[in-house]
Amino acid sequence: MFQLDSHPSGRHFLQIPGPTNVPDRVLRAMDNPTIDHRGPEFAKLTLEILEGLKDVFQTGKPVVIYAGSGTGAWEAALVNTLSPGDRVLMFETGHFATLWRAMAEKLGLVVEFVPGDWRSGVDPALVEAKLSEDRAHAFKAVMAVHNETSTGVASRIPDIRQAIDRAGHPALFMVDTISSLASIEYRHDEWGVDVTVAGSQKGLMLPPGISFNAVSDKALAASKNAKLPRAYWRWDETITMNRQGYFPSTPATNLLYGLHEALAMLREEGMANVFARHQRHAEATRRAVRGWGLEILCRNPDEYSGSLTAVMMPEGHDADAFRREVLARFDMSLGTGLGRLAGRVFRIGHLGFFNDLMLCGTLCGVQMGLAACGVPHKENGVRDALAFLTGDKEGKASHRRAA
Ligand SMILES: Cc1ncc(COP(=O)(O)O)c(C=O)c1O
Repeated sequence: MFQLDSHPSGRHFLQIPGPTNVPDRVLRAMDNPTIDHRGPEFAKLTLEILEGLKDVFQTGKPVVIYAGSGTGAWEAALVNTLSPGDRVLMFETGHFATLWRAMAEKLGLVVEFVPGDWRSGVDPALVEAKLSEDRAHAFKAVMAVHNETSTGVASRIPDIRQAIDRAGHPALFMVDTISSLASIEYRHDEWGVDVTVAGSQKGLMLPPGISFNAVSDKALAASKNAKLPRAYWRWDETITMNRQGYFPSTPATNLLYGLHEALAMLREEGMANVFARHQRHAEATRRAVRGWGLEILCRNPDEYSGSLTAVMMPEGHDADAFRREVLARFDMSLGTGLGRLAGRVFRIGHLGFFNDLMLCGTLCGVQMGLAACGVPHKENGVRDALAFLTGDKEGKASHRRAA
């Protein structure tokens, strides 16, 4: 076995915003013999998973599962629906929006990339303005990252949908929910999303390795005429074979065992409770950040992320040096600053398989780390988070109530 000898005692705190902590139940489910993916047991597994995913994506439409990371599912969304030279509208909300744009350009799409400050989400008014100007309907798709994992900013997807509708524009609407699915409320059908892109390693509490496209009728229709080359990522073959519970190529069998178990856990907790738990932990974290006298990167409270909080380091202090010290002293991994935020922020992941005491341990680790590194701060962070979790009406939701 590969030795993780940097964790001599107790459990590592994996508080990056994905991959997240994998529940023992999911680990045990994966620890089963790999079976024949053309056999009858496998078909049953697939069909139960596809049924369970409906609740998580809030859709009655097909959800395509890939062996691949979220980046693969981004590519699948683009190559199934678009043609070389198509114009698409994207918004610079942070590092992941920037990477998705780069992929679109590599595939031969023409991207209008609306600049942003990496502290705000997609502005629905700007979506409406851009699409209203486009009388010839040159834009074939609008893309948004629901939860920008690099900044802790969640864009308002229903408001963006309404902006597209107000402009009367027929563009497809594609949304990256890689760090929001099963942690921040999301409704594929009701919010009129054409392609929802998701991954296994965050709210779904699985290891990395599988990813998803939820596909509307409109996106399926677009895929009939789309000309970008595609082979592995084709939706049609998978959707056809999935009806019988099979896949065109070898699926990630043991990850699918894990997914089956994770879906059961989400069902037992109830999606509304899952979302409320994430919001509550996010609020407690923000209170801690304010209690330390530090600044939350997200500017607009309407866009606070339920799954992670990005914290700005005081001038003259390196966020990565701080993270290194926290790892060395307390065996806790915090998220690094990505792209232009490198060294300037650290990110606290509070998503997935997570509870009050894990959050308290995480916040204690941050507070102890700030002291250890001589980062100027106030000592009120943990105190304020605890006051919220135990006292405030809003915060006083117990684990039991969520069950
Ligand atoms: C919002 C978002 N989009 C896309 C990706 C890329 O996914 P992956 O690293 O699984 O390819 C990530 C990864 O963290 C992400 O957080």
